[in-house]
Amino acid sequence: MNGAANPAAPVLFVLFGAAGDLSRRLIVPALFNLHLDGRLPAGFRLLGIDRRELGDGALAEDYRDAVTRHSRRGAPEPGAWEAFAAGISYRRADVNSGETYANLAAMVRARPPGGGPEPVVVFYLAVPPTLIEPIVNGLGEAGLTRDADHARVVAEKPLGRDLDSFRAINSALGRHFIEQQTYRIDHFLGKETVQNILALRFANPIFEPIWDRRYVDHVAITVAESLGVEHRGAYYERAGALRDMVQNHLLQLLCLVAMEPPVAYDAEDIRNKKMDVLRALRPITRAGVHEVAARGQYGPGWLRGVRLPGYRGEPAVDLRSNTETFAALKLQVDNWRWQEVPFYLRTGKRLMDQVSEISIRFRDVPHRAFPDAVGLNAQPARLVIRIQPDEGIDLKFMAKEPGSPLRLRPVDMRFSYREAFAQASPNAYETLLRDVLLGDATLFMRADQVEAAWRLLMPVLEVWEETPAADFPNYAAGSWGPESAQVLMARDGRSWLSPTLSAGSRRQPDQTREMTRDEPDPAPTPPAGDGDTV
Ligand code: BG6
Repeated sequence: MNGAANPAAPVLFVLFGAAGDLSRRLIVPALFNLHLDGRLPAGFRLLGIDRRELGDGALAEDYRDAVTRHSRRGAPEPGAWEAFAAGISYRRADVNSGETYANLAAMVRARPPGGGPEPVVVFYLAVPPTLIEPIVNGLGEAGLTRDADHARVVAEKPLGRDLDSFRAINSALGRHFIEQQTYRIDHFLGKETVQNILALRFANPIFEPIWDRRYVDHVAITVAESLGVEHRGAYYERAGALRDMVQNHLLQLLCLVAMEPPVAYDAEDIRNKKMDVLRALRPITRAGVHEVAARGQYGPGWLRGVRLPGYRGEPAVDLRSNTETFAALKLQVDNWRWQEVPFYLRTGKRLMDQVSEISIRFRDVPHRAFPDAVGLNAQPARLVIRIQPDEGIDLKFMAKEPGSPLRLRPVDMRFSYREAFAQASPNAYETLLRDVLLGDATLFMRADQVEAAWRLLMPVLEVWEETPAADFPNYAAGSWGPESAQVLMARDGRSWLSPTLSAGSRRQPDQTREMTRDEPDPAPTPPAGDGDTV
């Protein structure tokens, strides 16, 4: 988000979990792309730490393969790769041993011959949440965390699995790092379209006046995935859709839509305004969970001609699993702007399409001057922020069909990133890593936000855990989710409007298995039919 030049100080990037999937698929390809774009500081070094027996060369070779497979730019040019790989080294280490940190401290303090400026050290924790505490304690005890100007820590979600475990992780972080040194990643905040929500709202005078309860009927946020749980069954069994997606990504999207304009475009002000939204969210009571929350789990089904197994048939998943792979929520923001405007959130795996969007549905016209037969309000006016694929913004409204008799039909005004901007967008990790290197925390979650999100969802998590779903699996792979999600909106006389689909989202399920988050989407084609309820 920061447009500043490269960081002045050299950076030592200490990557815990260096041999893991996250490092290979996302972090290292993003760092390499920053290198290609000339956006790493001179003297950037990457020190990988993991349990595996590997040499510096073997790690670099493994990363070359990972970059080839997962970078948006494909296989690296040999010269560029060698320049990057020259800065990669590896240490096999036990994160529970004090010796690891003593050795690390010696390496961090060592200066190249002839001196040179003190490096900024970024400790990136690409590790399961249970390892965060021992690692930050080790770093703290070795004196590696004290200098707030030269030490930063990056923690990946999931940050705990409930309010208590989050607090434990957070207090470990807080014992050794101050908030300004702590970067909690929610990769959705690095997506261009997500950042563009603020530009849309606050760089244009036309939207803000209608962005409230007088004009908006409701807001619907959909993050649908056609992928299943892939090889992540063991993790997902303990997470589920509410922890994996709603607690972080979907609530962050809601905050960006609902927040008040910041006074200044800086990390604290933006995060304060988002925090105000979280504080204004009406608490969910245990007794009210069944009215505001719906859960689902996919069973076997068909997706574009391919037969897919149900969740309980996925590797490392319990045959009688109670884990939800779909979650929907109705939330209310109790403040002046949004009183009685519901925010509906839904997310799920193995849904009909891979599509994420925010739909701001405006109120119906107050007076129907047209005869019913012409189709007024068949498609209510709405603004759709397409997060992925085919990123952009659509304004959907009614227009008269040419000719007579008089008929009204929904039409779109479309903004497409791909068409408007020649250059390819950086992926979310590139944006976020660059901000870490520059020390800009605007796009990262502050502790109080994460805590508020856990607090909000705890009643739902508890009730769902205590009362196993009697109807699981309750939606077929390849559908739009369980009926209970429809009921959630139908109770209010509303329904989910079908997401804006493009050919880019229509991947064969067997292809999606090989897709990574980095791969560009195929070229878009005109949208499929719209206005259906799903
Ligand atoms: C991750 C979740 O945070 O986000 C995954 O753990 C999910 O389950 C992923 O698939 C979705 O991210 P993206 O960027 O691919 O939409």
